[in-house]
Amino acid sequence: MKILVVGSGAREHAICWKLKQSSKLSKLYCAPGNAGISQIAECIEIKVDKLKEIVEFSVDSKIDLVVVGPEVPLVAGLVDMLNEKGIKAFGPVKSGAKFEGSKSYSKDFMKKHSIPSARYEVYTDSEKAIGDLEKFNIPLVVKADGLAAGKGVIICETRKEAEEAIKSIMDKKQFGDAGNTVVIEEFLRGTEASLLCFVDGKNIIPMESARDYKKAYDGDKGLNTGGMGCFSPNTIFNVELNQYIKKNILDRTLKGFLAEGINFKGVLFIGLIIKNNQAKVLEYNTRFGDPETEVVLPRLKSDLIDIMLKCIEGNLSEDDLHWEDDNCVTLVLASGGYPENYEKGKEITGLNKVDDDIIIFHGGTKLYGNKTVTDGGRVLAVTAMGNTLEEARNKVYKNIPKIYFEKMQYRTDIAKF
Ligand code: AMP
Ligand code: GLY
Repeated sequence: MKILVVGSGAREHAICWKLKQSSKLSKLYCAPGNAGISQIAECIEIKVDKLKEIVEFSVDSKIDLVVVGPEVPLVAGLVDMLNEKGIKAFGPVKSGAKFEGSKSYSKDFMKKHSIPSARYEVYTDSEKAIGDLEKFNIPLVVKADGLAAGKGVIICETRKEAEEAIKSIMDKKQFGDAGNTVVIEEFLRGTEASLLCFVDGKNIIPMESARDYKKAYDGDKGLNTGGMGCFSPNTIFNVELNQYIKKNILDRTLKGFLAEGINFKGVLFIGLIIKNNQAKVLEYNTRFGDPETEVVLPRLKSDLIDIMLKCIEGNLSEDDLHWEDDNCVTLVLASGGYPENYEKGKEITGLNKVDDDIIIFHGGTKLYGNKTVTDGGRVLAVTAMGNTLEEARNKVYKNIPKIYFEKMQYRTDIAKF
């Protein structure tokens, strides 16, 4: 099969790396890809939001399957456009991607189908939103309704802060039209967990669990980022919690999809907050997570192409998913200053010096002549498997001093809880 992966992060590198293991693959393309991906796939210079160009390339190159990594092209309807041309694509159509594209839509869906989540209100008028702040306890959370590159969620410790957040999102349009509507919700306490699921339209089948570290610095200090490290399996999950999630979240979400005629196929990534063996949904994403994918796919023993095709055909079963018992840890090496301002174009050295059992997934990197240079905030995801979490973590951290780029920044406490 000829496959095109859309995206340019460490998530897409991990997807390409896993697809490459399948005997069904004849040719792998990635648009636009990065320096690491270019070692295993042919990179095509098309950005992820150039939907028409992606479709044209897929038609011209007779692509058999397009795998869409990021949310932007999914929400914009890339899968619908490919399907119209008779091209198979892995990822939800626009109506499914709305679960990520609109937080108010997701919250209304959760409420309607009794899926545990934070209490909330939706506003399209900033004065009304500010007037209603008294109704919420402090801290509270203000969220831009649409896509805001992971920055549209503001946790407010005071009502004054909430007022500023509402003004900046709704009146000053900090996130453009994504902030025409806001969701205000109660702040939930607990431990976060990421549950990625394969969905084939009729079944929601969880992958192995993961724990993401969202804050920039050690001890969960600093700003929220896209994720600074991750491990799998997530030790917080146990039989009782799994049963709770199946009954109250997965089954009800599926029932809701079926009741509303939503033909969701692809990955549903459920962001959870867990307390006392019970879980509430923070959000739905409609794609693989980053860096979750970098720890989940290395543990997948089954053929990823088979799984993706079964999702599209609507006949995936739990028996199709087989997992390594080993633990997996990934550590993100970021550009100094991330997630705020950072420089690009720093030469990366030492990538070939790491131990054989280390997998380096590239995020923001590109080739500059024969050098690999930084090209984004999250640069590399350095990954290892181990019999125990500690073993996997030690393997990763032991190799970090071998890798260098100017102002490299990373957490030292990933997988240490
Ligand atoms: P979201 O994009 O909705 O997942 O929000 C991004 C991050 O904000 C989450 O991963 C949480 O860390 C935090 N967050 C979002 N909603 C809440 C909430 N209701 N209570 C506590 N933290 C939240
Ligand atoms: N790691 C969180 C995300 O992919 O949204």
